[in-house]
Amino acid sequence: MTEYETILVSRPSQAPRVALITLNRPKALNALNRQLMLELVGAVTELDRDPDVGAVVITGSERAFAAGADIREMQPQGFPGVYVDDLFREWDRLADVRIPLVAAVAGHALGGGCELAMLCDILLAADNATFGQPEIRLGVIPGIGGSQRLTRAVGKAKAMDLVLTGRTMGVEEAERSGLVSRIVPLADLLDEALKTAATIAGYSSPVVSMAKEAVNRSYETTLAEGIRFERRVFHSIFATADQKEGMAAFVEKRAADFTHS
Ligand code: CAA
Repeated sequence: MTEYETILVSRPSQAPRVALITLNRPKALNALNRQLMLELVGAVTELDRDPDVGAVVITGSERAFAAGADIREMQPQGFPGVYVDDLFREWDRLADVRIPLVAAVAGHALGGGCELAMLCDILLAADNATFGQPEIRLGVIPGIGGSQRLTRAVGKAKAMDLVLTGRTMGVEEAERSGLVSRIVPLADLLDEALKTAATIAGYSSPVVSMAKEAVNRSYETTLAEGIRFERRVFHSIFATADQKEGMAAFVEKRAADFTHS
């Protein structure tokens, strides 16, 4: 496995076919610097190609999932540099992976931290989690998709409130608003995330990826086009061994044994 400095990658024994990525810049509250971005995106891309991994959990520390993009790193930069480098473009690659990403969020999920959580497919939040897009306080706006994904998740009224005031929202408000999939007691967060990921990883990987693709399509197209897309994908799944196995197992009253094919 590749060696990393700003993240830890492990394969927890209690969660078959699941990889765990822990953001590991505790002194900077997991601020997302360039190295962390490249390492995290590289690790997820590698895991996306690993046939032995069916889901990935991304987590931080109890104090901070991530307190945003690294402000110290951004501070000296000017327009030509960030434009030519297309600062943050690598993050877009996380939106393209087929493997499901489960965010296990405790503590601060601010700015880029909130945006990273929103790049994941399922967002489990501990009861101490807080969310916000405070970039306006720094004289900038969200830069890793926050103005778009937050608005789609919570609607214009709440997104404007958060993006324009820079205020932080607590976990109950985040769940009520549709940003968070589930609230979990802090002590159970990682176990619950690993269990959720293991459940997903136990299903047919190609079918899981198609389900993820179909849900994501709803963000990008009309209802009629989205339903046509779903129908085509649904029909194509009947060409998989796992559809045969899943339905045979139900009829034969036994557990399905998916082969991811
Ligand atoms: N970038 C760089 N360093 C950061 C950081 C960040 N986003 N967030 C925290 N840190 C560092 C602090 O500088 C501090 O380092 P030192 O000990 O060396 O001084 C350390 O982490 C601990 O932070 P605090 O002492 O501030 O801890 P706190 O508990 O008092 O406050 C906090 C916690 C409210 C999260 C506060 O750290 C904070 O407001 N952080 C910045 C949040 C923010 O503005 N995020 C948006 C960043 S911009 C962005 O993300 C753009 C985008 O869309 C991509």
